Amino acid sequence: MPKDPSSASLAVQVPGGGFSGPHHVAIIMDGNGRWATQRGRPRLFGHHAGARRVREVVEACPRLGITHLTIFAFSTENWKRTQVEVAGLMSLFRRYISREMRALAAENVRVRFIGDRVRLDAKLIELMDELERLTAGNTLVNLTIAINYGGRDEVARATRRLARDVAEGRLNPDDVDEETLPRYLDTRVLPDPDLVIRTSGEARISNFLLWQSAYAEYEFIDTLWPDFTAAELERLCRSYGKRDRRFGGVKP
Ligand code: FPP
Repeated sequence: MPKDPSSASLAVQVPGGGFSGPHHVAIIMDGNGRWATQRGRPRLFGHHAGARRVREVVEACPRLGITHLTIFAFSTENWKRTQVEVAGLMSLFRRYISREMRALAAENVRVRFIGDRVRLDAKLIELMDELERLTAGNTLVNLTIAINYGGRDEVARATRRLARDVAEGRLNPDDVDEETLPRYLDTRVLPDPDLVIRTSGEARISNFLLWQSAYAEYEFIDTLWPDFTAAELERLCRSYGKRDRRFGGVKP
């Protein structure tokens, strides 16, 4: 991916094909386990294959006009999986960050993490901090990786911080409105997603970006995440371009 200094402002880019696509795409990367099972392999084999898909998708973003990509890597509910799978995923995240760090930095990708870090191990947190620091000046694509993330947990943590500000006199309860809570969410610096994609045929949102997706468009597709390609992302972006988003209003 070429470094593009002209994209310093994350102003809306027009995709090469001239269609008006989503600027913020969020993806629930589901189906790794089934993909591995279909091949007679352990579930972690599917997660490794899934991690390899991320690069192709990130690289496709600039030409599709996607300035923000948010991916769901581990939910607050995923701790219920076997100890082997959880430990394998945590090890995969550490390896992924170590391996991809330089490439992401060189390709002008800014990486952020959302979710609660309290249950993550110290080494993983250190790598996450390092990657965020290393890419902080990048502007081409904003990649946000959700680890130990749950929409309800995020709103609860935000509310706790908001309540503390009220209790300590920094915030007047009468001033709390729809603009206030988002300033306390993990996503406070990000725009709301335009398009949320879930792979693997499940039609549910599983606690992902609950507040932020109030007016997002959704795509539930059958492809298992390790089979997802940039071409499929492009097809979904084109289809998004044909949608009529009214945000509860009517067309003038
Ligand atoms: C859901 O599929 C997927 C996950 C819980 C993990 C997602 C992780 C990755 C795609 C790889 C790592 C990503 C990064 C950024 C390094 P599932 O296991 O629930 O699939 P199943 O429904 O078929 O069992």
